Formats: sequence, C-alpha cells, structure tokens
Amino acid sequence: MKVQFTETALRDANQSLIATRLPFESFEGILTTMDKAGYYSLECWGGATFDSCLRYLDEDPWERLRKIRKACPNTKLQMLLRGQNLLGYKHYPDDVVRMFVKKSVENGIDIIRIFDALNDIRNIEVAVDETLKNGATASGAICYTKSPIHNLESYVRLAKQMEELGCQTIAVKDMAGILGPQEAYDLVKALKENVKLSVVLHTHSTTGLGPLTLQKAVEAGCDVIDTAISSFSGGTSQPPTETMAYALREQGYETGLDMKVLKEINDFFKPIKAEFLKEGKLNPVVLSTDTDALNYQIPGGMLSNLVAQLTAQNKMDKFEEVLLETPRVREDLGYPPLVTPMSQMVGVQAAANVLAGERYKNISKEIKAYIHGEYGKAPGEINPELQKKVLGDDKPVTCRFADTLEPYFEKAKAEIGDKAKSDEDVLSYIAFPAQAEAFFDKREEKAKNTFKYSIRRID
Ligand code: CO
Repeated sequence: MKVQFTETALRDANQSLIATRLPFESFEGILTTMDKAGYYSLECWGGATFDSCLRYLDEDPWERLRKIRKACPNTKLQMLLRGQNLLGYKHYPDDVVRMFVKKSVENGIDIIRIFDALNDIRNIEVAVDETLKNGATASGAICYTKSPIHNLESYVRLAKQMEELGCQTIAVKDMAGILGPQEAYDLVKALKENVKLSVVLHTHSTTGLGPLTLQKAVEAGCDVIDTAISSFSGGTSQPPTETMAYALREQGYETGLDMKVLKEINDFFKPIKAEFLKEGKLNPVVLSTDTDALNYQIPGGMLSNLVAQLTAQNKMDKFEEVLLETPRVREDLGYPPLVTPMSQMVGVQAAANVLAGERYKNISKEIKAYIHGEYGKAPGEINPELQKKVLGDDKPVTCRFADTLEPYFEKAKAEIGDKAKSDEDVLSYIAFPAQAEAFFDKREEKAKNTFKYSIRRID
C-alpha cells in the first residue's frame, strides 16, 4: 500500500496562514533539503503567490519559480491555476491562457492543478490542453461543495469529463474543510471506481476534520494527499505532513518520505513561524479550529470577511441575518461553490440584501456579470425572477465566455512596451497591470543604481 504527499508550505500554507508573505530569501536555504524529502510534489507557485510577489514582496514571480526549479531539480513543482481566470478574477482570452501555461512550464512547473470556480468544464479545457502540449501533468480539480444539486453522481460525471479532456490526475479541492471523513471515503471510492486516474485530496484543517478526512480518503484508495510541514500546518492551512506520514506508516502505508529530512524542514520553518507570530503577521486565530463552517456551510475565510465588512459599517447586529441570507443568495444563483471569486460575491450580495432591507435592491456588478454568464454556467438554475431583473429582455451568454474575447497578448505587449523585458513580464502585466508596472519601474530604478555604482567602482 502506497500513498504520496504534496507539500504545501510554500503555497497554500503560506497563503492560508500568513497571506502569502513569505519572501523567497526566507525559504531559499531549505529548498535543497526539501528536494530530498521524497514528496510527490512541492506546491510552490500560482494561487496568490504571483500577486503577492509583485504587490508586497517586490519579487519577480517568474524569477522565484526559476530559482526554486534550480534548487529542487529532483522534485516535481506544482502550481494552482484557476482555469480561464488564470490567477486573477476575470476570464482571459485563450491566447493569454495558452501563453501563461506555456511559460509556467518553460520556467519550471511540472504539474498544473486546474480548477474552475463553477466546475464549468469549458473553463479548464484550454489550460488543460496547453499543459498537455507542453509535456506537463494536468490535474483536473473538482471544487467540493454541498448543495441539493451536488452529489457523488455529479462529481463522478465531472471527473469523467476531466479524464476525457486528458487530465492525468483528479484532485478533490475542499477549500472550506467541510468534507467529512465518510464523505471523503465515499467520494474517493466512487472516483476510483469510475475513472482510471490517480486521485488527489486537498483539504484544510479549518474545521478540524482535515486529518480524519485524509485518513479515510487514503483508506478508500486516494493516491496523493496535500499536507503542510507541521510548523505551517493546522487551522486554515493543511493537516501536518509528519503526523499524517506517521499515522499512515503505522497502518502499513509506504509514504516515500524521509522523516529525518522532514524534521530538518520543520526545524527550519519553526523560527520563521515564531517571527511571523511575534510581528503579528500570523494571527493565532487562523491556527485554531473553527467549526462554524460546519454549521453554516460557509468557508471560514468568508465568515471572517463578513465580520470585517459588517464591523466596518458598524452593523454587526445584522450578522445572524446575513448568515441566514447567504445560503439563500447562493440558492438564487444556482448553488455556486463558495470559492474565490464566488465566495466574496455571494457574501457581499447577502450583506447588501440585509443592509438595504430589501433583497436585490442593489445588485453588485459582479453578480450581474455572473447572471449574464460571464463566469460560465451556473451549476444549477438561477432564480428566474432575479435573472429577469438583471437581464430584462437580454439573453445570457450561453457559449464559453472566453469565445467572446479578442486575443490580447500582443496588444498588451505593445501597451507595456519597453518596460517589459520578456514575454513573462507581459504576462505579469496582463495578470496585475498596476502592480506589475510599479514593479518594473522599481526594477529599472534598481538597475540604474547598480549601474552607477559599478561605474564608480571602475573609477
Ligand atoms: Co486550498
């Protein structure tokens, strides 16, 4: 019996605990050790890392990837990609998606985990196709959610579609940590019975179910589990790598992990965690167990957003009402999974409905775009009255939304001009225009200073 591990310390754990603020230099020193741990893969790029590099860390995300690649020649590097949204919040035209995937692989990525917030298969097609063309592994990710229209059958159907697209593995993505152990067992079993691909399980420890859920998933035949080195595990992050390896090894599973190396990695990350705690950049709240998500079926991150939003408006007395309104908005929208960007959109609309004292008096522009079909197909039926209110006599887009978009890569390249030194720079600019441009300017400034300095030295 065998089970493999994906280490999330550099991406999801970093993102879930400390808002992706780990600078490259902070973990550079442990990369060659991580390369020897025996992981199935190292999740180290994509998700919020790209944005964070440009916006907060003054780092070129592509450069970061190349450096990790160089330090970890023996481990598969993995990234998370939101299908046609890439790493952002809107749909990009196909030429941009293809170029982004191609450059990700060229710069060192081996495995691309691709998902769509609505589980609309059309929104991952192009990214999967390009991943395969470039010889990397395409992992189709199913966003796990609970609703009257989501069940084993619908998940198996989606997995089969992903298999047909050419995905080489299927990942179950439980972003809210609401997948229970028995549900995980049944889901993994159903997937293994119906598709020939390896199954990967991704969950979060938010509600405390994480380790139990992974354990039962492995018993059902799950091939790979996502975990985080213990000092960066738990709470809104993943279950701990060492603990899961220990427990599964006791049960007779071969993990391929070197426990001594894991200890070295953990010892390295411990003081980093302590520093983040000390500076207040790691809030102990995110490390604790929060079972509210089980009661409300609302991801933890979304709850804290709602609290922040209502507190800012001095309306916390409406919290319970907003919590009750949230599932109703979700139902009206055809039960989208509560993952970025839908989680934010549903939460904001629910609060607006309560605070205005009238449902859908104000409708956000994002919700309008969603109803217009700009995010893809709603999983279920959108409330016809709401649809009518937003669209009037217009028809929603029923084709793949990206088919309505003009190619953009060459246009963006012309737009940013000399500031972009490579196609990778152009992609950074397309993904986060203002942040990328500011980063390019600073880089230019730094280069000038270095140049002056070197002239002085020649003198
Ligand atoms: Co996650």
